[in-house]
Amino acid sequence: MIQALKKLEEDARREVSSLSDSKALDGLRVKYLGRKGLFASLSSRISEVPPEARRQAGQEINRVKQLLEALFSEKEKTLIPHPRFSEKKIDVTMPGTFLPAGRLHPLSRVIAEVSRIFGRLGFSVVEGPEVETEHHNFEALNIPLDHPARDSFDTFYLENGRLLRSQTSTVQIRVMEKSRPPLKIIAPGKVYRPDATDATHSFMFHQIEGLMVDEGTSFSELKGVLLAFAKEFFGSRTKLRFRPHFFPFTEPSAEIDIFWESCGEWLEILGAGMVHPNVFRAVHIDPEKYTGFAFGMGVERLAMLKYGVSDIRNFFENDLRFLRQF
Ligand code: DAH
Repeated sequence: MIQALKKLEEDARREVSSLSDSKALDGLRVKYLGRKGLFASLSSRISEVPPEARRQAGQEINRVKQLLEALFSEKEKTLIPHPRFSEKKIDVTMPGTFLPAGRLHPLSRVIAEVSRIFGRLGFSVVEGPEVETEHHNFEALNIPLDHPARDSFDTFYLENGRLLRSQTSTVQIRVMEKSRPPLKIIAPGKVYRPDATDATHSFMFHQIEGLMVDEGTSFSELKGVLLAFAKEFFGSRTKLRFRPHFFPFTEPSAEIDIFWESCGEWLEILGAGMVHPNVFRAVHIDPEKYTGFAFGMGVERLAMLKYGVSDIRNFFENDLRFLRQF
């Protein structure tokens, strides 16, 4: 018996050491240590061993069993497959997987560019809600219920008495309700108007509002800031023209045109003016102490001019042939 165990041990050592893959090792394990394996059938023959030798044979059985188990588990460790190289070899000369690079939507690009320019002029970027109160969209901006200017800022009304803002000028009010001058902010965002869609109109579009309030802020500062912006955004040769206009929330007010060399025409790019004393009163800022200017521009309009886009609907149709050009 003891000799048979010795032989079993030697055979197992030899077979295990000559093997090099883990499937074959599993097979060997069954052959030696399985329920009907060589070791089991050998050790069951202990009953045939004469009683006086049994004790020694039993010890030998235990030793060989432990040895076999250790043998297999040691071997197994050396065969653990390398996770990267086990299945397939990597061909480093193959072309990589192509990950298409995303890009900013042209309107996001314009907003980012305008924000960057005004950021350098000391303005911070703030946002306000798209669902607004009548107070913020109209009354506080000096547009009372019976004022004819309501029409030009008409909007969509919700059943709960709120509305979708029709201008980002609402953010002027939101900022001045919370903060005291000096103030220098711009506010980009979506606005809504019940306009029929065509090449230059959309029921939803984007504006960027600007507001600067301090003691002694003047119209010439407004001109300086807007010219600095326009030169940076459209190019250093840009010329602006200020045309008198009416806005309820500013006095005096102007529409500002840019001279477009390629067509030799003045094109309107924004509205602006000095903050109306009634707007200051609505937010409890003393109009005798503070003055300020405000302006508002259409993002789609800026993008159409800068990139030569002739139809506003291009921005909203998600046609990749259009969007990939930016
Ligand atoms: N809110 C105006 C509009 O939607 C744009 C505007 C004009 C904003 C003059 C201003 C401003 O702040 O002073 O047409």
